[in-house]
Amino acid sequence: MLSRKIIVPVALVVILLSLSVWIFLVTNNKVVFGYNINYQPTQPIAYSHKLHAGKYKIDCRYCHSNVDKSRHATIPSLNICMNCHLSVKTGSPLIQKLSQQYINNKPVEWQKVHLLPDYVKFDHSKHVNAGKKCQDCHGQIENMEEVFQKESLSMGWCVDCHRKKENNAPTSCVTCHY
Ligand code: HEC
Ligand code: HEC
Ligand code: HEC
Ligand code: HEC
Ligand code: HEC
Repeated sequence: MLSRKIIVPVALVVILLSLSVWIFLVTNNKVVFGYNINYQPTQPIAYSHKLHAGKYKIDCRYCHSNVDKSRHATIPSLNICMNCHLSVKTGSPLIQKLSQQYINNKPVEWQKVHLLPDYVKFDHSKHVNAGKKCQDCHGQIENMEEVFQKESLSMGWCVDCHRKKENNAPTSCVTCHY
């Protein structure tokens, strides 16, 4: 029979190991919680917000140009990237892949990170023009190597913010539902 002298330390090691694996997965956004918090699909090209929006401080609106005009923020097409990358870092294999797709007129198939159900009305321009910051809803995008979903985007999350006095935002069902 196995003695306690063996079982107890082995159990402790197993617990410690699983705990550290769990902490590693959570801190690296590999665990997706309810409502897709931490969801981070793999993108076809390793485009970094941390580099472009963080280090080089390119304005969000340079690429997401409709964010204050319409419902959608829009994802930039390749010609926006090529404004710089026809001359910037052309020796890089990643940029050569980008140029190939550009020359062949093949759009990059970016994977969507945030996605509300069809029955929800959401409009970027209303929020941005009311002074809300991208970071209020998306977190510190400028520190993200790869974008992940920071907030739940649940109904409770929307309504909690609409209810705050300073926001003066409508809370009737038809505000957000058809
Ligand atoms: C040089 C262009 C560029 C700049 C500048 C830029 N982005 Fe992006 N953004 C992209 C591209 C390309 C994608 C799609 C690939 C991805 O998700 O990483 C994207 C994706 C996103 C997404 C996820 C979209 C989805 O699928 O749900 C968010 C949110 C976002 N950007 C916010 C920002 C914010 C906030 C800033 C400024 C701090 C910013 N971006 C600056 C090019 C840019
Ligand atoms: C305003 C100029 C500008 C725009 C627009 C821009 N980039 Fe960049 N990009 C840079 C700079 C500067 C670097 C860093 C170059 C270096 O490391 O010397 C860079 C680096 C990169 C790298 C890393 C290359 C490597 O091998 O290290 C990738 C990939 C990249 N960009 C993709 C994109 C994509 C995709 C878009 C469009 C969504 C885009 N860039 C738009 C300026 C830009
Ligand atoms: C009030 C919260 C909120 C604010 C503020 C906000 N977003 Fe969003 N964003 C969302 C939600 C919710 C979605 C998902 C929309 C959908 O699925 O229809 C989204 C989606 C996106 C997308 C994916 C493409 C699209 O339009 O669906 C991009 C890119 C994006 N946001 C960029 C930005 C940028 C850049 C800013 C700041 C200028 C910003 N967002 C401000 C909540 C917000
Ligand atoms: C960070 C706070 C905040 C969050 C989070 C937020 N909103 Fe808003 N929302 C506002 C503010 C502020 C307004 C603008 C009120 C005004 O000036 O009319 C607004 C306006 C709107 C409007 C336009 C209302 C109208 O008729 O003019 C819609 C639709 C809307 N929000 C839907 C949503 C949905 C859906 C979500 C969640 C996915 C959401 N909002 C999350 C703050 C927020
Ligand atoms: C500020 C925006 C907002 C308002 C106001 C709002 N909703 Fe929602 N609602 C959402 C969003 C976003 C979702 C999708 C995410 C989720 O299921 O939590 C949703 C989801 C739902 C669902 C589907 C839930 C499920 O589990 O499938 C129902 C039903 C619903 N809402 C009813 C209502 C009713 C009834 C009202 C009025 C009392 C209302 N909503 C007001 C944003 C809103």
